[in-house]
Amino acid sequence: MQPTVTPEAIDEIREEALGKLDSLEDLDEVESWRVAYLGRKGRLSSILRDIGGLPQEERRAVGAVGNRSRSLLEERLSQRLEAIKSAGLAGLADTDRIDVTLPGRPIAVGRLHPTTQIVREICSAFMAMGFQVVEGPEVEWDRYNFELLNIPRDHPARDMWNSLWIDHRNERGEHNMLLRTHTSPMQARVMEKMRPPVRVIVPGKCYRYEATDATHEWHFYQVEGLAVDDGITFADLKGTLYEFARRVFGSDRRVRFRCDYFPFVEPGVDMSIDCFSCQGGGCRICRDTGWIEIMGAGMVHPKVLEGVGYDPRVYTGFAFGLGPERIAMLKYGIDDIRLFYSNDLRFLRQF
Ligand code: DAH
Repeated sequence: MQPTVTPEAIDEIREEALGKLDSLEDLDEVESWRVAYLGRKGRLSSILRDIGGLPQEERRAVGAVGNRSRSLLEERLSQRLEAIKSAGLAGLADTDRIDVTLPGRPIAVGRLHPTTQIVREICSAFMAMGFQVVEGPEVEWDRYNFELLNIPRDHPARDMWNSLWIDHRNERGEHNMLLRTHTSPMQARVMEKMRPPVRVIVPGKCYRYEATDATHEWHFYQVEGLAVDDGITFADLKGTLYEFARRVFGSDRRVRFRCDYFPFVEPGVDMSIDCFSCQGGGCRICRDTGWIEIMGAGMVHPKVLEGVGYDPRVYTGFAFGLGPERIAMLKYGIDDIRLFYSNDLRFLRQF
């Protein structure tokens, strides 16, 4: 069949295309228009392909009309695209626009909780003396929390810890699982796994069934310490804890040890430092005594060593336990332990 391509046919397609172009609203519509006229199978492209079939003498003139029409459509197409794009920006709602001249919003930078800070400080003081940091479970067996610490079932010493028991019972129907009341259970767990020399500290959370007040929380942290080897004496205990007190509370600190009772040590002591606030003269912080108690300690009880298979005639050791919140309260003059966990940013931002 003879191709019907004529300058008039080309004009007609071009005018039709131009006529539609101005009413196109968005980029999708423009793309469909481009495909319909200028695409590989578009109307203008198809008709221009037929020019090749014209007799020699017509080809040149019709070809010229065809090329001009294609350039014109391409030019108008890009103008229309520009117009749609800038109209799109101008049409944005005020709230979508960014005012680059506004001052930036400050980025809130997080920080470590005061307890975390003090726990880290305590740990580094002991790490510098060769102690290794280990952690243990917060849900504990009665066996580790009490029995292996020389606190048998039904012994009055258990009254020292008000426990939160888990609803789980042994074959005799007795509760045997609880939220650990102290970090001391890790003494037995560590010694079961290691042979002496043992030198560990155990930071971690503890829980007690406690009415809360300014000095009691139902959950709090402890840092436990344990050193066991042959030949460890009470002098090692004193030297280590004295060095700790000087590192954390200042190099002019003096320390005092007094007898105390904990079932898993013999002898047991409580350790005090002279008041760093009044230098021992008497003030509110030390309640006019000049001394501040900071931890319990003692020589590991032979029964605790036997319980984990250590021979108490060969090995001796010392243990200690302290409360980081109490240390932070003393150091920073905080008068209520409940502030630590009440999530008040006015308190937390001070550290
Ligand atoms: N576990 C004790 C408590 O919670 C603190 C303590 C005292 C730990 C003496 C010790 C220690 O290791 O020797 O009250």
